[in-house]
Amino acid sequence: MKIVTFYFVILKEDLMVSTATKVGNFTFDNCLMNAAGVYCMTKEELAEVEASAAGSFVTKTGTLEARPGNPEPRYVNVPLGSINSMGLPNNGFEYYLDYVIELQNQPNTKNHFLSVVGLSPEETHTILKKVQKSDYEGLVELNLSCPNVPGKPQIAYDFETTTDILTEVFSYFTKPLGVKLPPYFDIVHFDQAAAVFNQFPLVFVNCVNSIGNGLYIEDESVVIKPKNGFGGIGGDYIKPTALANVHAFYQRLKPEIQIIGTGGVKSGRDAFEHILCGASMVQVGTALQKEGVTIFDRITKELKEIMAKKGYETLEDFRGKLHYIDR
Ligand code: DHB
Repeated sequence: MKIVTFYFVILKEDLMVSTATKVGNFTFDNCLMNAAGVYCMTKEELAEVEASAAGSFVTKTGTLEARPGNPEPRYVNVPLGSINSMGLPNNGFEYYLDYVIELQNQPNTKNHFLSVVGLSPEETHTILKKVQKSDYEGLVELNLSCPNVPGKPQIAYDFETTTDILTEVFSYFTKPLGVKLPPYFDIVHFDQAAAVFNQFPLVFVNCVNSIGNGLYIEDESVVIKPKNGFGGIGGDYIKPTALANVHAFYQRLKPEIQIIGTGGVKSGRDAFEHILCGASMVQVGTALQKEGVTIFDRITKELKEIMAKKGYETLEDFRGKLHYIDR
């Protein structure tokens, strides 16, 4: 018995634990990165994520023209998460496109995600045609799930519009593209959404954006100004929903479409659960906003400790291998 224990300890100490990952043909030294909207509005913020332990960054979703967004207060941290109705403030997609191209031409750069969406299908196509023509060779995330622009419903809750947009996009767009999705809450919707995405050569789907249009109240008042307090919910509140969406799409999508897991990640354990549900990359939103870019060191260390304890050396050792109870 003693010999067995001794051998076990040695074995574990010898493990080479890595959180490296791949999305499409792109490699990343670490599976952790920011979620779009957090630490990504300016080049300075993006440079902070680039210099951190994160494996990549995604830019703030860029529209055709720069936008000031909704009036403040428009983002508030609350004990169990956050609520926001930013209204797509951004510097215009070309600002972010120029920056990812600038970095791409530097030695030892990471691979990146450029997030974009138009305020109409036409604008989306104008943007993506410009990205197609540009020198950018990285990944593009088309945001189908912004809940905060008054009068503009979330695209991905409308399967017909989503199909039409993606059909048109793939008639001209040949660069690696994925989509950012809102959470779905019904098994039939998982089936229908997966049937839509399986028709296209997507590289990834990112599950999930905030749970749209929640309401947080302090004393007798809302806490954010736009939309009389209604806003996207992030943080602890959304982890079970995020995990369900990651796993539902992992089960339903063709294997060429990878999953990025986002929602409620603030510890190594949370990241581990997203990967167990099928995520190839894990994004940190609310917790990054609360803690700053050093969070990537902490979560990476915690994730590696869990992996070492379980004898896992790579993410492939446990990705998607969620246990069911079938006794
Ligand atoms: C905003 C919020 C989102 O959840 C999103 O995907 C894009 C933009 C915003 O309010 O700025």
